[in-house]
Amino acid sequence: MNDKSQFIPTIEGNEISSFQTTWSAPSNIALVKYWGKKELQIPSNPSISFTLSQCRTTTSVRFERHKDNLDHVSFKIQYEGKSATNFEPKVKTFIDRILPYAPYLKDYYLEIDTVNSFPHSSGIASSASAMAALAATIMDLEQRIYPSLTAENLIKKCSFLARLGSGSAARSVEGPIVLWGKHAAIPYSSDLFGVRWTKAADVFKTYQDTILLVDKRQKGVSSTVGHKLMHNHPFAEKRFAQAKAHYQALLTILEKGDMDGFSDLVEREALSLHAMMLTSSPSYILMHPNTIQIIQEVRRFRNTTGLHITFTLDAGANVHLLYPAHEADKIDQFIASDLRKYCQDNEFIYDRVGTGLKKV
Ligand code: DP6
Repeated sequence: MNDKSQFIPTIEGNEISSFQTTWSAPSNIALVKYWGKKELQIPSNPSISFTLSQCRTTTSVRFERHKDNLDHVSFKIQYEGKSATNFEPKVKTFIDRILPYAPYLKDYYLEIDTVNSFPHSSGIASSASAMAALAATIMDLEQRIYPSLTAENLIKKCSFLARLGSGSAARSVEGPIVLWGKHAAIPYSSDLFGVRWTKAADVFKTYQDTILLVDKRQKGVSSTVGHKLMHNHPFAEKRFAQAKAHYQALLTILEKGDMDGFSDLVEREALSLHAMMLTSSPSYILMHPNTIQIIQEVRRFRNTTGLHITFTLDAGANVHLLYPAHEADKIDQFIASDLRKYCQDNEFIYDRVGTGLKKV
C-alpha cells in the first residue's frame, strides 16, 4: 500500500503523561543518488544506498504531556549538551510536516538532546542520521500510545517520517542496503519510505567505507538548494532517466557480486551528480582540487593492483572510498600512505556497511 493515509492514526490511543527514550541512527551513502525532488520530499528518481555503521546521531527525547490543552507542539533542542537554536527551524519544519501523521505530538513538550559520533564540522551531512534518530524517538512514543502497531509498520512509518525531515533520512532506518523511490523493477518500492533490500551478494554486505575529509567546512551550497536547481535544469529529465536505469543495473550488479561493474556504475553516478551542479543555473563546484587528485590516484591504484576500490561523492568535497573487507589490509595501507595527505588535517574516518537504527 503506497497511500500516505495509511500513516494517519485512526484509533483511540493510550494517554502517556511522560516518556523518555534514546535512539541512534546511522548515516548512509547513496550509490545511486537522489538529486531533485517534488513537493513534500517526493524524489524525482529512485535511489539506492549503503547504510553506514559508525557515523551516527544519537538522540534522546523527553516527552512531557501538557497540563493544559495548548494545541501546538513546543520543543527545546540541545546539541552536545548546549542549546542549539540554529537547529530549531529545521526541526520546526519537520514537526509541522509530520503533525498530520503524528497528531498526538500536539499534546507534548519535547526536550531533544542530540550528539553525533563524527565531528560536527567534518563536512559529513548529518541530516539523514539526525532526522532518522528523531523520527525513531517519536515512533517509540507512538508505539506506547498505540501498542497494536506492528514492528513492520513501525519501521515503515519511521522511514516515512524521517523522509519528511530530509529525503536521504528515509534510507537511514534499516540496512545494509536500502531502496527509496518507486521503481517498476521492485513492486514494494515507494516514494514515501525506504525499503530494505536483501538480495545483494555477501561481498557487498561487508563493504568498507573510508571517508576522506577533504574539506571539513560546511559546504557553500546546501543540498536543499541543489535539489531546487534541478527544476528547469537543461539535463534534468535525462538525469532522472539515467538514475532509473542505473538503479536497475546496480541491483543486478549487487546480486551478482560484480565488483568491477560496481566501480564503473557508482563512480559514474557520483560524477553525474556533480555534473548537475556544474551545469545548473547558477552553476557551482563543490569538488576541491584534492577531490580530483584522490579520484585520479584511486583509478591509477585500481588499474595497477586490480584491487576493488571505488570512490563516490556526496554533495561536497569529501570522498567516500568503498571496498570489500577481504581487500581492506592493502587498501587501508594505500589510503594511509598515498591519500591521507589530501585530507584536511590528515583526517579520515573508517566506516563500513551497517544495519540501521538502534535503541540505546
Ligand atoms: C547528494 O537528503 O540532504 O546526498 O531532502 O533537502 O534534506 P533534503 O536533501 P538531502 O539530499 C541528499 C543528496 C545526496 C544524494 C543522496 O543522498 O541520495
